[in-house]
Amino acid sequence: MEKKWYRTMSVYQIWTRSFCDSNGDGIGDLPGVLSKLDYIESLGVNGIWFSPIYPTPNADYGYDISDYMNINPEFGTLEDFKKILDEAHKRGMKVFMDLVINHTSDEHEWFKESSKSADNPYSDYYIWRKGRGKKKPNNWLSVFEGSAWEYNKNRDEYYLHVFAKKQPDLNMDNPKVRDEVKKIMRFWLDMGVDGFREDVITFISKAEGLPNGFPLPVATGVEHYKHGPHLEEYLREFRDVQNEYDCFAVGEGPMTSVKDAVKFCTEGKDKLLDMMISFDHMNADCFMADWVKTPFNLRKLKSAMSTWQNEMYGKGWNCLYIENHDHARVIDRYGSPKYRRESGKMLAAMYLLQWGTPFIYQGQEIGMGNIRLDRVGDYKDVLTFNNYRLFSKLLHYSDEKFLDLAAKVSRENARTPVQWNSEKNAGFTTGEPWFKVNENYREINVEAQENDPDSLLNFYRKLIAYRRGNDLVVYGKYKEYYHSSSDLYVYERKRKNERLLVICSFREKPVKFKAPVNYDLSRGEVVFSNYKDCPIDGNGFVTKPYEVRVYHFMDNN
Ligand code: GLC
Ligand code: CA
Repeated sequence: MEKKWYRTMSVYQIWTRSFCDSNGDGIGDLPGVLSKLDYIESLGVNGIWFSPIYPTPNADYGYDISDYMNINPEFGTLEDFKKILDEAHKRGMKVFMDLVINHTSDEHEWFKESSKSADNPYSDYYIWRKGRGKKKPNNWLSVFEGSAWEYNKNRDEYYLHVFAKKQPDLNMDNPKVRDEVKKIMRFWLDMGVDGFREDVITFISKAEGLPNGFPLPVATGVEHYKHGPHLEEYLREFRDVQNEYDCFAVGEGPMTSVKDAVKFCTEGKDKLLDMMISFDHMNADCFMADWVKTPFNLRKLKSAMSTWQNEMYGKGWNCLYIENHDHARVIDRYGSPKYRRESGKMLAAMYLLQWGTPFIYQGQEIGMGNIRLDRVGDYKDVLTFNNYRLFSKLLHYSDEKFLDLAAKVSRENARTPVQWNSEKNAGFTTGEPWFKVNENYREINVEAQENDPDSLLNFYRKLIAYRRGNDLVVYGKYKEYYHSSSDLYVYERKRKNERLLVICSFREKPVKFKAPVNYDLSRGEVVFSNYKDCPIDGNGFVTKPYEVRVYHFMDNN
């Protein structure tokens, strides 16, 4: 496996609005990020991915862009951004932008023009269709709200929006649109940006004729755009531009199978993306979508992770993550808030020692948790409101019942302000925060964990440092043991004469662990653990709640 800079990198994801507010308006901003660069560097990461920071009317908090070549004035200016870029580079950190090109905001100039008439330079920038009599052009449903079609009087036509109404899909079949995308990429790459996270990139090519979706259980139509006929062709065009620069691209692919991901990411001249954001391992406590909650199932998690580890190995590269701005906090999902520190450490080691480039989401490193809001009106996100409509109308949920569910599954759980210290508003802002601060900030905050050598924060630092430049962790082969256990996740990393054995308990109750036959625990060195003592009994041990142990072995000595 070739050594490339992104392979030894760890990336910190910033969702700016909730990161750090510098001017007291309650909204996180770029000067706030700048003031925390030393902190980010202290984590040991060498990359920053910004969720969208472009001008936006906030229908989807930045994923609805109204100008691709500027900065959201709520966050600052291009000058503020250039300063961050410069300072990050000085610290040896790369900077990645979120490239959202499946759709724009309906307040983007292109859409404003496009919706005026069927014969202007922007008419074909979006996907416009006549209705079928009184009916919409087809039966597709949007991911965020009702039908995927919205009527426009000027044109007497409907436009397609796979996401919110205010997020019209671009017509990528139009070469002019693809040229615009290339211009946008060059704009940021020429400025010095080091690459992109490409938002729902697998959705950009829609099936010819936009056929009706398969009507079971509801016709979303997703089968007609999740990996459309021209996807690879368009990705090729974009990659050719990227290849003129020393940059990297990670693609977000909801529902993308590992087989397709291997196709996109395999090394060589045909490579389209450096890695894919998989969703499979984020479904271990739900059915297909976060809102269809099921009990946590460790075997589901292990299957998903092992599949990507094994299938991609030696071909492309993996993207490792357990949190981002689209999912509830992971300790509340896969760990235990009662054992926040212990299970937080276990989850960190579980994924950070796998094969791929790890991403860490703001607040994850201190174990921030989910939030229970008192009123539906305290939520801010189109996806939450869509689910409110569905659950209250179709399933007759009371507000209380809905709020209980949302506190477990809403992605807004991950969007509460970062908890910096135990002062007012957790040190996030001196003003009125745009979103409620989690009340547990007095116990869970960066400052408290800075001062505690045993904190989750410092555990993250140690893990990230351990990965860096460690060929065993970066390149070693992955192998899972005890696959059928529903309590333990055990895997090995192996390279030349070195091995790591990672043992994670996902249970509070004691679980008996016995080392695999080819291991002698007494000859290993414990390099990570979340309890002080690591006694062994025979060639194994009985786990403490959410215990993790990582053993390092040097063979043939
Ligand atoms: C991606 C983003 C998500 C956004 C959606 C539509 O899944 O991560 O936050 O809402 O795309 O752009
Ligand atoms: Ca601000």
